[in-house]
Amino acid sequence: MARLTINGQSHNVDVEPDTPLLWVIRENVGLTGTKYGCGIAQCGACTVHVDGEAVRSCSLPVSAAEGKQITTIEGLAQGGNLHKVQKAWVEHDVPQCGYCQSGMIMAVAALLREKSKPTDADINSTITNICRCGTFQQVRAAIHAAANA
Ligand code: FES
Ligand code: FES
Repeated sequence: MARLTINGQSHNVDVEPDTPLLWVIRENVGLTGTKYGCGIAQCGACTVHVDGEAVRSCSLPVSAAEGKQITTIEGLAQGGNLHKVQKAWVEHDVPQCGYCQSGMIMAVAALLREKSKPTDADINSTITNICRCGTFQQVRAAIHAAANA
């Protein structure tokens, strides 16, 4: 059994402590915006926030997230208003197939919380998410737009 707080709501889930957080978010809680890509912390499709930090949830045991504030893509908008990263994504038409994009957006939102005006070098070192559709140029432009919003 694990007790989690996801997007401000409490959930009691009947899982083993070493179950990956991603599985719990998708299968037990039913929030499917967070995606499974590689399962080995390489692609970033599963990125969520744990206490405000970007975390690859496929590789975090659920026990490590207990007692912390977990935010998924479904909880990023506040009070019906899109997060500035989401707005920039819409304005720059970033997504192609969309599969990687919730993880990408969560990683970028965490970066902008740490560094309000990231340089290209900051982006290169922090946003290591993989996009098979090759949206990297649009992602970079949208990050700078969100930083200046
Ligand atoms: S599914 Fe978690 S990093 Fe790829
Ligand atoms: S938009 Fe298709 S994988 Fe990134």
